[in-house]
Amino acid sequence: MTPRPPHVAIIMDGNGRWAAARGLPRTHGHREGAQAVRRVVRAARELGLPALTLYAFSAQNWQRPRPEVDHLMRLLRRFALDEAPELLARDIRLVVIGESRRLPLFARGPLAALQAASAHNRGMTLCLALSYGGREALAAAARALVGEAAAGRLRPEQVDVAAVAARLATSRLPPVDLLIRTSGEQRLSNFLLWESAYAELVFTPTLWPDFGRADLEAALEAYRCRERRFGGLAPGRDVTA
Ligand code: FPP
Repeated sequence: MTPRPPHVAIIMDGNGRWAAARGLPRTHGHREGAQAVRRVVRAARELGLPALTLYAFSAQNWQRPRPEVDHLMRLLRRFALDEAPELLARDIRLVVIGESRRLPLFARGPLAALQAASAHNRGMTLCLALSYGGREALAAAARALVGEAAAGRLRPEQVDVAAVAARLATSRLPPVDLLIRTSGEQRLSNFLLWESAYAELVFTPTLWPDFGRADLEAALEAYRCRERRFGGLAPGRDVTA
């Protein structure tokens, strides 16, 4: 049986180092990073991935200098405006996770418009994590559960894995199968902590602005070579039980 194509999530890291290596301001790195986003979205669609989730701005990234944050917000606006025709033509649905109401309206507006326009697309889901934090998302789910319990609509014994998952913004996405981090760093940085419980991890030294279709294909090949057991046994290993 051919395994289903994986939901790929990417921590896009290394924009600043890409720029520094060329004596350029960090904003140049982000601009090139946005180009890499366009390339990788196209490649993911062509490779038949059901979902691609990109960590584009973390809840902690607000701590960065104001000009850098403003630049990233402008890149998000440009992405939503410029890419809309192609995303729609390619049957891609855009969803946003994170506290997107914290984004300035000039970025939030075009992103919301594209989400609405693409809501019925089924070819692939592109999920942008914006002002996103895994701990923050879990805290929000816990808040929702406690609220329902306090209102008498939920009993404590009904709070199980499915109940938590249903209250996350990712509830309509498949679980993350493959998590890629670029730039050589090997940590999760508060990304999809719940959803990546059984994700295969691939770390690549490539800086995000240099990442392209070949790098995505290499990560998918590494993924295909992994044996996924989900806490069980590999097929054929239960004979001595
Ligand atoms: C991490 O690199 C990257 C980010 C915090 C921002 C990611 C943003 C983009 C790829 C471009 C805009 C996104 C879209 C969807 C249009 P870093 O700046 O921390 O790099 P460094 O660790 O080398 O300093």
